[in-house]
Amino acid sequence: MSLKKNIVFAIIGLFVLFSGFVMAETYVVGTSAGFPPFEYVENGEVVGFDIDLLREIGKLKGFDIEVKDISFDSLIAALKSGNIDIIAAGMTITDARKEVVDFSIPYYSANQSVIVQNDSDDDITVLFGNHKIGVQTGTTGDLWVTETLKDKGILTGEIKRYDTFVYVINDLVNGNLDGVVLDTPVAKRYSEIKPVNIVAEIITGEEYGIAVNKGNTELMNKINEGIEELIENGTMDQLIAKYF
Ligand code: ARG
Repeated sequence: MSLKKNIVFAIIGLFVLFSGFVMAETYVVGTSAGFPPFEYVENGEVVGFDIDLLREIGKLKGFDIEVKDISFDSLIAALKSGNIDIIAAGMTITDARKEVVDFSIPYYSANQSVIVQNDSDDDITVLFGNHKIGVQTGTTGDLWVTETLKDKGILTGEIKRYDTFVYVINDLVNGNLDGVVLDTPVAKRYSEIKPVNIVAEIITGEEYGIAVNKGNTELMNKINEGIEELIENGTMDQLIAKYF
């Protein structure tokens, strides 16, 4: 082998070795936008608290993220099938979900709220009788309205289920819904940016976690350590101040 060839091989070898060191792993983060301030679309890009949180964890733990916006109801299936690596979607840690995915330590607490149109006189009684209530499919709000109200005959009207809260809120504002049940922090944000009002809070005591596939302890450890470090170094407080 000529010297020239040797040098070329050596350079290629070094390049391969070096790129292994510098190329950070990229994880695909699944979310469901329309859930401000956790995830929403701004200038065609999905941004929000959850996205920044994952980005900051990635900075500490040496990974990049790519964000995929899908319907909330499809997130767990997408994780299971390997389409995404992480769910960051203001997802409540529940026993049922814990059977199929692993959750990080909690990073945010929330209850459910009832919102109505600004000019409506409805109060919490909008949940009783013949009213149309909107929810996002598969959310804890959906489950609560279904199990606590509809199945017990307290709500005799229709539950309308949507893929994204953007459409839920639109239908409420357009008068196609009487009320909507959704997470309090998001209800608060919508009441600031849309003509809707919070009329009641349901104390469900939920906690949000980041989810990964069952048994993916390597990634879960990175995420948990990341959250802890962000709390310790003050970045978590900065993110909260930025978004809330
Ligand atoms: N916390 C609720 C749940 O886990 C609602 C989450 C909805 N998230 C979203 N990104 N749209 O069911």
